[in-house]
Amino acid sequence: MTGPERAMIRAEGLAKTFVLHTQGGAEIPVFRNVSLTVHAGEVVALHGPSGAGKSTLLRTLYANYRPDAGRVMVRHGEAEDDWVDLASAPPRAALALRRRTLGHVSQFLRVIPRVPTLDVVAEPLVALGEEVGAARARAGALLSRLNIPERLWPLAPATFSGGEQQRVNVARGFVAPRPILLLDEPTASLDLANRDIVVALIAEACAAGAALVGIFHDPAVREALDARLFTLTARDTCS
Ligand SMILES: Nc1ncnc2c1ncn2[C@@H]1O[C@H](COP(=O)(O)OP(=O)(O)O)[C@@H](O)[C@H]1O
Ligand SMILES: [Mg+2]
Repeated sequence: MTGPERAMIRAEGLAKTFVLHTQGGAEIPVFRNVSLTVHAGEVVALHGPSGAGKSTLLRTLYANYRPDAGRVMVRHGEAEDDWVDLASAPPRAALALRRRTLGHVSQFLRVIPRVPTLDVVAEPLVALGEEVGAARARAGALLSRLNIPERLWPLAPATFSGGEQQRVNVARGFVAPRPILLLDEPTASLDLANRDIVVALIAEACAAGAALVGIFHDPAVREALDARLFTLTARDTCS
């Protein structure tokens, strides 16, 4: 079953406050009591002004941040009751979950020095056991589709333009099919033509049954994806 009724990720009562230990323990409450369920084949857009906590929520869903309260239940495996609480999972379980189930496209590419672009993109497939040649072929196809010229593939992306790095990041995020995808402004620094290609990739993943949670500043992108809005209001979110 891949219909819209199949819940894939379920945040329950999440709360996050940052404590700045280097600044006298100052506390920055970001959100509390956030609950959100995303189904297969659905796009949810985190919405709200800058500083509302959208990126923090997305990183909490990915277990980059541990919430102060609440759970991040992720469907992991085929059985109806195969759910893992990512927020309390041990690191090894969280990594396995990311490899197979939960993809994340960060706002900025974290460049690994000296690794060629083609391998940066192919790596998630290789980590899943795909043969290197086949993984590179798939990575190359995706880079071509995203208009990254072949002469750049052997180079590390450190010197690429912002828009090129973002497209490499998107390619890396989409190269392995994952049932849940988290996207932090994947089209922010792209021209319209490339924006539309990324929108098409997202729509295809969604049509294939993925559950997507994203931050999309461009209203045209939210509209094209028929995204359901999940609104965060600064400092105090219940929804
Ligand atoms: N790692 C961090 N440490 C301390 N404060 C943070 C950190 N990340 C974000 N914040 C603070 O949390 C709030 C929400 O930030 P963020 O989630 O980036 O908002 P948005 O993505 O909606 O613009 C902001 O006030 C920001 O300064
Ligand atoms: Mg942000």
